[in-house]
Amino acid sequence: MGISKSDAIIIVGGGAFGLSTALHLSQKGYTNISVFEKDDNIPPRFSAANDLNKIVRAEYEDPFYTDLTIKAIAAWKTPLFAPHFHQTGFLHCVSGAAPEKAVDTLNRFQASAEKHPDIKPHVVPLENEKDVRQACWQLDGELTGWHGYLNRYDGYAHSGNALAAIYRATQAAGVRFFLGAQGAVSEVVYASTLTGRKCAGIRTKNGRFHPSALVIVAAGAGAGRLVPEIGTSIVAKSWSVAHVQLTDEETSALRGIPVTYARDLGFFFEPDPKTNLLKLCPMGGGYINTDPKTGVSHAPETLSESAFLPEADEKQLRQLLAQTLPSLANRPFVRNSLCWFADTNNSDFIVDYIPNMAESIILLSGDSGHGFKMFPIVGSFITDLLESPDNRQSITRWRWKQPSSDAGKEDWGGDVSWRLGQSKEFASILPSKASKL
Ligand SMILES: Cc1cc2nc3c(=O)[nH]c(=O)nc-3n(C[C@H](O)[C@H](O)[C@H](O)COP(=O)(O)OP(=O)(O)OC[C@H]3O[C@@H](n4cnc5c(N)ncnc54)[C@H](O)[C@@H]3O)c2cc1C
Ligand SMILES: *[C@@H]1O[C@H](CO)[C@@H](O)[C@H](O)[C@H]1NC(C)=O
Ligand SMILES: *[C@@H]1O[C@H](CO)[C@@H](O)[C@H](O)[C@H]1NC(C)=O
Repeated sequence: MGISKSDAIIIVGGGAFGLSTALHLSQKGYTNISVFEKDDNIPPRFSAANDLNKIVRAEYEDPFYTDLTIKAIAAWKTPLFAPHFHQTGFLHCVSGAAPEKAVDTLNRFQASAEKHPDIKPHVVPLENEKDVRQACWQLDGELTGWHGYLNRYDGYAHSGNALAAIYRATQAAGVRFFLGAQGAVSEVVYASTLTGRKCAGIRTKNGRFHPSALVIVAAGAGAGRLVPEIGTSIVAKSWSVAHVQLTDEETSALRGIPVTYARDLGFFFEPDPKTNLLKLCPMGGGYINTDPKTGVSHAPETLSESAFLPEADEKQLRQLLAQTLPSLANRPFVRNSLCWFADTNNSDFIVDYIPNMAESIILLSGDSGHGFKMFPIVGSFITDLLESPDNRQSITRWRWKQPSSDAGKEDWGGDVSWRLGQSKEFASILPSKASKL
């Protein structure tokens, strides 16, 4: 363990992983923690977690992540996090038109939920449309061929509010925040040592150098720009987010509905009572933005480039609503955007030192679009790593992923079992200038 409690620690990124890290480090007694965030506001608009809500479901196909989420859900129920966790249940289905791959994945999720002693008592199998309607009477669409299960152990978290709450809590605990022009990191700075190289700190876009004993890069889809060594092992990828504006009455009528998810279509959440927005996401292979020169996908630099809903996704979301809440099926979609995250080819996180840098820089990334549920505990992955007696990540699957030299030839994780459909290039789905942008 090279780092002492008073050493300067810099966290790059004030999103889900960065804020959780700041919280856990300060709780462990580290006293000189600074978070650098390029937006001038937290929740940052660039964060994949900046919006209304994220699914918190415990069952994974992989028991490793199931056990981890059970720990996370216990932490969601503690006072700091509880206001933002809503255990509404998770209605997990396929529609009658779902391809076999989606049905198989659903079956594996259901088997995982039914096998786990903590989760099993909360699972209700739903064999047909009638069962689904019984589980959630508000769904008054045809639900043609829908089947699956309801898991009352699960629910969702209000992600934007949870980020704001941990921002306030860590600030109160003495964590320093550099936001906006002061917080946008242009590069990690390295220095030569007698034995090799070491991270010396970071430089911000305004030219200032900030020294530190340890840098933790928690920059979400922006990680590849700061840590180019990770190459194609991290793929900036995005999925669509859209909302329907409801009235007070409509929001009220949908209060308490479970997260409603058809694997072949997408999902939506209980409407947010503050804004009366019902958030939806289509399920698919997502969009990548590959630099043809390097084969590496990076998120676009500006938010406005991502502020639209691809046509195919809009169609899919209208089908989802027609099946479930038909009175909303033709409403305009508002606050549309593509939400960028850091994907790995097997959906495993990366929580490790960058090799050969004398334990001076950690990459915390590869959330793979399923990391928010871990928000209350992510920071403990870092404190565990700092306490590891041999400076090694003991969880093999979270170790540094050396990129293969076949840049551009990987399949970008499009074939991970819980995803449906291949990733498409961002450039190929951009709306024409004349249309609704
Ligand atoms: C559409 C969508 C749906 C999702 N649904 C779920 C779900 O249902 N359940 C779930 O558990 N997870 C879900 N996720 C995933 C979840 O949002 C992410 O796992 C989580 O936000 C990852 O946290 P992060 O801190 O790594 O990245 P982010 O939250 O994206 O934060 C990264 C931060 O780094 C900052 N940054 C980047 N570069 C720099 C720089 N150079 N200088 C300073 N700051 C920088 C950014 O501004 C940003 O604030 C979803 C993601 C998407 C896109
Ligand atoms: C934190 O570390 C920085 C960089 O080394 C240093 O300038 C600053 O004085 C330290 N702050 C405290 C409170 O120790
Ligand atoms: C994922 O990438 C790693 C290299 O980072 C490689 O060794 C591995 O074979 C890849 N796995 C799959 C399933 O493509």
